[in-house]
Amino acid sequence: MGKGVFMSKSLAIAIGVLTVSSVCGVVAMLVVYRIQIARNPPKPPPTLQTTTPIPTEPPANLRLPDHLIPESYEVFLQPYLYVELPDNSTEQSFIFKGNSTVRLKCVKNSKSIFLHVRGLNVTDVRVTSTDFGKVLSVSHYEIHQNESNFLEIQLEDMLLGNGSRYELFTAFEGELLDDLSGFYVSQYTVKGKEDKEEVRFLATSQMQPTDARQVFPCFDEPALKAVFNITIIHRPKTTALSNTKGVFKTIDGEKWHVTTFSPTPVMSTYLLAFTVSNFMGKGGYPSKITTYARADAVIAGHADYATQMTEKILNFYETTFGLKYPLDKLDQIAVPDFSAGAMENWGLISYQESGLLLEDDTSSNFDKEWVATLIAHELAHQWFGNLVTMRWWNDLWLNEGFATYMSYMGVEAADWNLKDLIVLKEIHSAFQVDSLNSSHPLSLPESDIETYSDIIELFDDITYSKGAAVLRMLSTYIGEEEFMNAIKTYLRKFQYMNPVYKDLWECLQEETKKDVEAFMSTWTEQVGYPVITITTQTGEISQEQFFLKQTEGHGIPWQVHIIYFKSDSMQVNEYLLKDKGPVPNPNFQVGKDEWILANINCTGFYRVNYDDENWNKLLMQLESNHHVIPVISRGQLIDDAFNLARAGRLNVTTGLSLTKFLKNDTEYIPWESALKNLDYFILMFDRSEVYGPITYFETYNENGTVPEKHTDQYNQVNAITVACSNGLPECLSMATSLFRQYRNNTNPIHPNLRRAIYCSAIAAGDEDDWEFAWEEFQRATVAGEKDKLRYALSCTKEIWLLNRYLQYTLDPTKIKKMDVVSTINYIAKNVAGQPLAWDFVRGQWSYLTQEYGAGIISFNSLLDSVTKRFSTDFELQQLKQLQRELEEKDHEFVTRTLEQVIERTEANIKWVTENKQIVLDWFSGELKNY
Ligand SMILES: *[C@@H]1O[C@H](CO)[C@@H](O)[C@H](O)[C@H]1NC(C)=O
Ligand SMILES: *[C@@H]1O[C@H](CO)[C@@H](O)[C@H](O)[C@H]1NC(C)=O
Ligand SMILES: *[C@@H]1O[C@H](CO)[C@@H](O)[C@H](O)[C@H]1NC(C)=O
Ligand SMILES: *[C@@H]1O[C@H](CO)[C@@H](O)[C@H](O)[C@H]1NC(C)=O
Ligand SMILES: *[C@@H]1O[C@H](CO)[C@@H](O)[C@H](O)[C@H]1NC(C)=O
Ligand SMILES: *[C@@H]1O[C@H](CO)[C@@H](O)[C@H](O)[C@H]1NC(C)=O
Ligand SMILES: [Zn+2]
Repeated sequence: MGKGVFMSKSLAIAIGVLTVSSVCGVVAMLVVYRIQIARNPPKPPPTLQTTTPIPTEPPANLRLPDHLIPESYEVFLQPYLYVELPDNSTEQSFIFKGNSTVRLKCVKNSKSIFLHVRGLNVTDVRVTSTDFGKVLSVSHYEIHQNESNFLEIQLEDMLLGNGSRYELFTAFEGELLDDLSGFYVSQYTVKGKEDKEEVRFLATSQMQPTDARQVFPCFDEPALKAVFNITIIHRPKTTALSNTKGVFKTIDGEKWHVTTFSPTPVMSTYLLAFTVSNFMGKGGYPSKITTYARADAVIAGHADYATQMTEKILNFYETTFGLKYPLDKLDQIAVPDFSAGAMENWGLISYQESGLLLEDDTSSNFDKEWVATLIAHELAHQWFGNLVTMRWWNDLWLNEGFATYMSYMGVEAADWNLKDLIVLKEIHSAFQVDSLNSSHPLSLPESDIETYSDIIELFDDITYSKGAAVLRMLSTYIGEEEFMNAIKTYLRKFQYMNPVYKDLWECLQEETKKDVEAFMSTWTEQVGYPVITITTQTGEISQEQFFLKQTEGHGIPWQVHIIYFKSDSMQVNEYLLKDKGPVPNPNFQVGKDEWILANINCTGFYRVNYDDENWNKLLMQLESNHHVIPVISRGQLIDDAFNLARAGRLNVTTGLSLTKFLKNDTEYIPWESALKNLDYFILMFDRSEVYGPITYFETYNENGTVPEKHTDQYNQVNAITVACSNGLPECLSMATSLFRQYRNNTNPIHPNLRRAIYCSAIAAGDEDDWEFAWEEFQRATVAGEKDKLRYALSCTKEIWLLNRYLQYTLDPTKIKKMDVVSTINYIAKNVAGQPLAWDFVRGQWSYLTQEYGAGIISFNSLLDSVTKRFSTDFELQQLKQLQRELEEKDHEFVTRTLEQVIERTEANIKWVTENKQIVLDWFSGELKNY
């Protein structure tokens, strides 16, 4: 089917809907959702209760002292868990026992050893001098009951700092909880004998950022890399996996199996992984790659696509990065309960099931894209993060920015033409957060990141998306080829090491003549980004920090690399703006009928504003022939105009008028950009009288044929979503009729359209429809299909159903713990559900933080979503009230997010007050033309 068939020609005012952003792919962050409960509020630095003077100071903060360097560990772990309960037993055991021997080199005299442990009972501690084969007597050991998680060991004898070697042995016991962190238990059901549902268990792990210490006492900081010799003792008929290859033997008759893994390369603790399950693997010799999942899923072929993609992307990276993947195997495992989207553990990558498994009949093309993108991200980490690791969490953006940026090249290599979408998916979201004064710089001083919540708050859009955006900008600035050459050098030079970001600039500087450090420090060391203003009459150009809510700017001017062309010559030029300006430059002057377009393809991380005349000329150009302006820039002009208007720098009607050319444009990027921005109008006005005139005209492809091109498929989903949610009768009757067929018989809905159509049908439907979808949700075995239904259930307009659904999120037998946040977020997107979700979150705050605190919930994402619509003074007061309450209770962990949503709400209040009438008039005026 050709282009444009499903996009109406008569489309007048395109208005986005609340659902758009969620329909367009799961923008899940690869975040370890974990919040510290204020169970152990931070205390002052530990002090030693010893009277003997000792040469080394106790740690001055939450970081380990530097007198001991771990070189290698020997770790035994024995989980007592049964993956399947034996016939005549109901006894399950969630205990694990183990011991660890770590070889240490001492570089400063000391009588103490500090390392990390949390949630384990340490039953034995022994220290031996390797050089003399002598056991040292331990005078005292204790676990600090504060946020340091220190296991402090005091010795009678001195550890000699002349490079002498010691061995520290610890024995310990722990518990496998269902808390999704450390070594934990996950469960799922299978069809057992006579089709009865039976429960199965597995033990699995998630360490990032600081949970390896929950599995065995260790020096749990990324720079303290070591070799790990792991042995797992497990029940018969189970498979144990870890980072490297294992060989197993049987001991104690048939009672236990012992799997011994070959020594790992030198690596960080947060990348360790262990699983014990009866999963089935697919792939393997002669390939390095094996995909593990529930046996029924593997047999049904659900892991096949992932395996193929992995092969392709891994090969591409090996060539592109100029270094072979260094391990002798690469396992990927689909874990039924997993808090992050995926985790890049070296040699054993874990995924949520929806991130790895696909079923032909139910998976949409977007599900496939998600799997490919996630694999590309995690595989990029095998180099960026695993081989070369940031020294401390303050430079997390080096890991995540690179993995995010490279993943767009990785999926491109796997035949997904998505490279340009980085602008929508990363850059636009980074622009949003970073236009708040309460944002943070990409790179913070090491000493600013100390506590668990400091670390966890870094897993945000700045780290991932702005990180990727500035790397893309840098690559354009110095040239893609030079950039990749320097990256190769960087990887080779720092493999198995822990560089800081300045080491990267050095490699880049050697490759090019440009002063990379001077350029990049303006982008990484300060918060925010600039807006460039070009006045085409005078050719003056200037920069200023872009704020959604005007605040006093600060800091030094950015080095802004401007790529631009003018309509007469269409010659692409570049210019480096270093000053605040205004700087006069005749190159930025235009002729009478000429316009200028800057930041072509949005390669720079900044916005551009022009004088009204140039905006008008661009507008006319778009309406007469939009092809003259590149696709990405068409999307960018829309995003810039709307956001400049939100910031009060441009008349909002300019943004609205800019969407009018879309009736002739069938490309996804400009459309999505417009829908996302119009989504803001809906959020601001859907509870007010302005909403009526914001009407929508749209048709859609009625026979449901799915277009070939991937981004056209996105358009199709957008079209349906927009049409149905605005109550277009044809759309609603199509959705309800398809859903009725599904209820009566078999599901006729194309997987691509299920999310949108289920949602529309539930929204238009009654309680029976909801109950049907709820049963289908419980019955579904493929994670992707389950997610579509779980989303659709949030679309009902019935308040009592929404309230009951919210209650379900507190019951893990109904909604898995890992799905709680996204379910509440879905409900909050629904205009009927939003106040319910907000009341629910506030009302259940204590319960949620207690029950779901550790390892599961991103309270940051929750708070961000339930307050997206906030634009009244009353709501602002409620937020401030919450802020006071949390301050009193010492809940440190959402501090920054709370500041951000308060700032956003204040900006919204101002914007709504100033623009309500203008928007109302504009829409009424446009409507008269139809
Ligand atoms: C781990 O294995 C390596 C290689 O066999 C060995 O050199 C090292 O001593 C072992 N470490 C421990 C703590 O046993
Ligand atoms: C079940 O119990 C019987 C007797 O108590 C025992 O002989 C048998 O080995 C048990 N079976 C399993 C699978 O443990
Ligand atoms: C450590 O645990 C393993 C497995 O249980 C055991 O064989 C070994 O003897 C233990 N090591 C020490 C020193 O106790
Ligand atoms: C740790 O020790 C405490 C107190 O003795 C005990 O209650 C708990 O069950 C132990 N936990 C494990 C995992 O052994
Ligand atoms: C802008 O991006 C498009 C791909 O979307 C590319 O074909 C074009 O060459 C780029 N233009 C410039 C000036 O880089
Ligand atoms: C914005 O444009 C509208 C209509 O074009 C006009 O009525 C309004 O006065 C303008 N607002 C400002 C602040 O210029
Ligand atoms: Zn990542």
